[in-house]
Amino acid sequence: MKPPDSITDGVVALRTMRESDRAVVLSTFADPLVRQWLNMPPRPSDADFDAVMRTIHNGFESGDRYDYCVTEPPDDVSLGAVIASRRHRDNWEVAYLARAEGRGRGLMTRAVRLLCDWLLEEGVGRIELRTHPDNEASQKLAQRAGFRREGPAVRQARESRARPGGPRAGPRRRLVLPRSGPRRPRKRGGRRARRRTPSSVRRALP
Ligand SMILES: CC(C)(COP(=O)(O)OP(=O)(O)OC[C@H]1O[C@@H](n2cnc3c(N)ncnc32)[C@H](O)[C@@H]1OP(=O)(O)O)[C@@H](O)C(=O)NCCC(=O)NCCS
Repeated sequence: MKPPDSITDGVVALRTMRESDRAVVLSTFADPLVRQWLNMPPRPSDADFDAVMRTIHNGFESGDRYDYCVTEPPDDVSLGAVIASRRHRDNWEVAYLARAEGRGRGLMTRAVRLLCDWLLEEGVGRIELRTHPDNEASQKLAQRAGFRREGPAVRQARESRARPGGPRAGPRRRLVLPRSGPRRPRKRGGRRARRRTPSSVRRALP
């Protein structure tokens, strides 16, 4: 798979991240909505941006992860990011986030479609995304981008294990909604043990 430096549909463009994106990326990490749904450093710093750049570089080198900034040409300022990560076999997962200026105009839906179309053109078998059950904006975006609801990620993982190498479903996109966390047994005489944060929320970017 040869990742392009940029992809566009004429309205949005995906391009690789640069050193000059440092300030805007750090401010996106600090965006309250982004912080609500994604694991971000408490006080985003230069070291966090450096770590992101290393992760991106390593992802492109290994071919296991591709991060792109989303822009609205002719403006080149990053409005957000879309990320494709290889999971297993030919399964890939996408994730996305936008700062306030990039939201509410359908630009992120376009960006996710562009990324997915490219992955499917490259022959990937399946694309998944996971989102928190309460993250309505993310679910609406996923559905607009062509994903369909599959179910809780926990059950999906169990099914994958039960059918290793099972029938290939062909190219399609899936919306996998994790449960709010595994149900824990009640402590004797006490309240239910505190639920863990769902894996989709704990997943850090990167
Ligand atoms: C998830 C996230 C990227 C969605 O952003 P978004 O702006 O809602 O998504 P889009 O760019 O597709 O824009 C859709 C909105 O623009 C509106 N819109 C305007 N013109 C549009 C057009 N031509 N096409 C589609 N939508 C359009 C839609 O109606 C919609 O608004 P609504 O939700 O009020 O109906 C954003 O909420 C975010 O960054 N959240 C924090 C990070 C996060 O949760 N990431 C997902 C983790 S899995």
